[in-house]
Amino acid sequence: MEHLKDLFLLDSAYTHLNHGSFGACPKPIFEDYQKWQLRLEREPVDFFVNQGNIQLQKSKAALGAYIGADPDDIVLTTNPTYAINIIAKSLDLNPGDEVLSTNHEYGALERTWDYYCEKSGAKFIQQEIPIPLKSKEEFIEAFWKGYSENTKAIFISQITSMSATIFPAAEICKRAKELGLLTIVDGAHVPGHIPLDLKELQADIYTGACHKWMLTPKGCSFLYATKEVQNNFDPVIISWGYKADVPGKSLFLDYHQLQGTRDYSAFLTIPAAIDFLEKYDWTSVSAQCKQLILENYQDLCDIFGTQPVCPVTSEFLGQICSIPVPIEHPNELKEILFNRYKIEIPVFKLNGQVYLRLSTQAYVSQKDIDYLKHALIEIKETTNLLKQP
Ligand SMILES: Cc1ncc(COP(=O)(O)O)c(C=O)c1O
Repeated sequence: MEHLKDLFLLDSAYTHLNHGSFGACPKPIFEDYQKWQLRLEREPVDFFVNQGNIQLQKSKAALGAYIGADPDDIVLTTNPTYAINIIAKSLDLNPGDEVLSTNHEYGALERTWDYYCEKSGAKFIQQEIPIPLKSKEEFIEAFWKGYSENTKAIFISQITSMSATIFPAAEICKRAKELGLLTIVDGAHVPGHIPLDLKELQADIYTGACHKWMLTPKGCSFLYATKEVQNNFDPVIISWGYKADVPGKSLFLDYHQLQGTRDYSAFLTIPAAIDFLEKYDWTSVSAQCKQLILENYQDLCDIFGTQPVCPVTSEFLGQICSIPVPIEHPNELKEILFNRYKIEIPVFKLNGQVYLRLSTQAYVSQKDIDYLKHALIEIKETTNLLKQP
């Protein structure tokens, strides 16, 4: 994979081990992005009225084929939080209703659900999923303990942000459907990372980011909703799509896609990103990155005498893993790693435990992970920061 490193724009002064937060865009895809921006500036009227829309359809068609969805069931959004806000804002929640979720969800979306549940008198139930997680069955059992006759919808991550674990979204959706619940899945980390076929998954609502593992520039994500539910959601921004002069195929598309002036060049890079992933055989690149996680996760935990958050298998792990670290304050360790070792890696607290999250991507080698290990051992031996195991 070493030869692929040069394709990325990342500053080589740093060891970048945080693909998970904002992704990283390779040069050919970034050039495609700039090409769209230039076209827009050269002929803004034609772009917004004609060309941009034609390209947007092509982008959605390419994305639809990639994730197993009808392009008419997809709207492109800047980020997954925007997408879930569309849903949470107009979900028909009444006092006493419950949205069942876990205590591993992404912070911005916990806040979204907290806000809208509080507003309507509903409850956001963050069911505890114990760490270390031992099996899929254990997850499923723990999750459904949070179910009650008041549960109206479920919201779970397919790959969690902080615990960096693959959750059994398909099994949860299947059971939820049998119970008549609305199923909402946060797949921010999924596209380009693990296989995704929305026809198979059968979530009613799904969001994913293209700017993480699909490698587009920032600000390219999507909201998918099945035809049965997609027209139930108000636009977050009331614009030209409300009572549209020339109504499109659905309210879903009009409400969430038709807006005035905005630079959606990032949306148009999806076909170039998919071509890039195919050209460089990213399935094989991704498999090598996943192997790096499987080979290093336990060793990294051993430095601190802690345990992986889940079984070290491909059922639970992709290209990210979170290492529990026995410290109180995440920032000090993050700053030492960044300032002294020039390692960019997130350190954060989840449910009272501090974690360090490693991401692997084509530009990360075993040498980089060895350097991280060296830095962590040195910090442990030369500072009071890390408690001895
Ligand atoms: C699980 C998960 N959901 C959603 C998001 C979306 O992030 P945002 O909308 O803040 O860009 C992220 C980003 O890291 C994430 O990890």
